[in-house]
This record gives sequence, structure tokens and C-alpha cells, in this order.
Amino acid sequence: MPPPMSEHGPMIDHMLAMLHLFMLALFVGWSTFFVYTLIRFRRRRNPKADHGGVKNHTSSHLEVGVIVVEAMLLLGFAFPLWAVRVNDFPESEDTVRVRVYGYQYGWLYQYPGPDGKFGRHDPFLVTSENPVGMDPEDPNSEDDIVESGVLNLPLERPAILYITSKDVIHNYAIPKMRIAQDANPSLFVPMWFTPVELGTVDVICGQLCGGGHANMANLLTIMPSEEWNAQYAPAPEAPTDA
Ligand code: CUA
Repeated sequence: MPPPMSEHGPMIDHMLAMLHLFMLALFVGWSTFFVYTLIRFRRRRNPKADHGGVKNHTSSHLEVGVIVVEAMLLLGFAFPLWAVRVNDFPESEDTVRVRVYGYQYGWLYQYPGPDGKFGRHDPFLVTSENPVGMDPEDPNSEDDIVESGVLNLPLERPAILYITSKDVIHNYAIPKMRIAQDANPSLFVPMWFTPVELGTVDVICGQLCGGGHANMANLLTIMPSEEWNAQYAPAPEAPTDA
């Protein structure tokens, strides 16, 4: 795995590492047990099958142990991590929001512009000039910025991406941010993360979506906050006293 570049990334890696270690322990444990039974119950020593079976409770205790560890992983680590990702969405002033539209084959990005509000989206308004189907009559549409190919986000500010699709199901996946979300037509499903490193990382489509699936590779650039503000949220011009 490439090193994580989001705030929550190390937690995901920690969870994965624990799962793998536990699976390794299970693999070694059950393999050893299997080999032990092959030897212990070999035909030469047990010419007649014993229908009574095992008399002691060692295997039951082992099973209970496995259940306890699995419950700990689920309740102690996986659930809390999941809860933060899906329930505790950032609401701070500096949070940035971008709509992400998947299509066969690429991604489009809609930034809300200085007013911080997205223009109304209507799939029936989609044309080649209006690829995200923005409603031109909605005043919130006026300053919206639509781009493709590269998503730009500011450093160390929570970002909420609203993932949707214009056709089939895609998946907006940013491996280095340790996050991914299915893109479903007619739904804007939010996912959030906080980038903690400057740089450019790969974005891929994580759902087999057709012949051009592999062409859905995009880039995500993390830039300094001031630079991002100047580009995507320029402060409205100060009123001049005339
Ligand atoms: Cu879109 Cu695969």
C-alpha cells in the first residue's frame, strides 16, 4: 500500500494490519490443528472409527476465543471507524464541497464557487455544453465552476465529495486517501476526508463499468489553501464607494 495522505488513512491501515495479523494467526492455528488431527487420528492408531468423538472442550474454548477477537475487531475498531466516516460529517467553516459526476468514461467536477452553493442539477438538462446538467435559471449556478480530469483540493481542510453518476454505476476511489464511494445515478452520496500532504495522487474508477473502465483514471491535486481559495472561492469584490 502506498503511504496514506489523509488524516484518517493511518487508522484504516492499522485496522487492515490487525485483520491480516489475526487472519495469519487463524491460518497458522487451524493448519496446525489440521496436521495434528491427521497424525493423532491416523488409521494405524485408530483402526476402528470412534463415534463418541472428542470428549474435552478445547475446541469449544478455541472457537469462543476466535469469536471474542472477531467481536473486538468489529465493535472496537471497525464500527467506530465506520461511524466517523458516515455519521460525523465535518461542518466547520473551512470545509470544502465538490460534486463529482462519473460517466462512461471520465469524471466531472462541479465547485460551488464564491457563494458556496451548488446550482441545481437536473439530469434532463445535460448537453455537451452543459455536461453536469446545471439549471441556468438557478442563481446559484452562475459562479459554479465545472472542470474535468483533475480535482483540486486545499491542504488540511476537510473535503466532502458528493459522488454521483450520469449513466452506470462507477466508483470514485482515491487509494492514497484511503477512501472510495460508489457513484450511483440520481444520488449524490457524500464521502469526506482531510488531505494532510501536498501533491498529486491517482484517482481510479473502482467498479467495472464497461470497455473504457481503465480510462477513468484521474488526478487529485492537493494545493495550499490560499492558492485554492484564489482559484475556487475568490472573495467577492469589495464594494467601491462611488
Ligand atoms: Cu467507471 Cu469503471
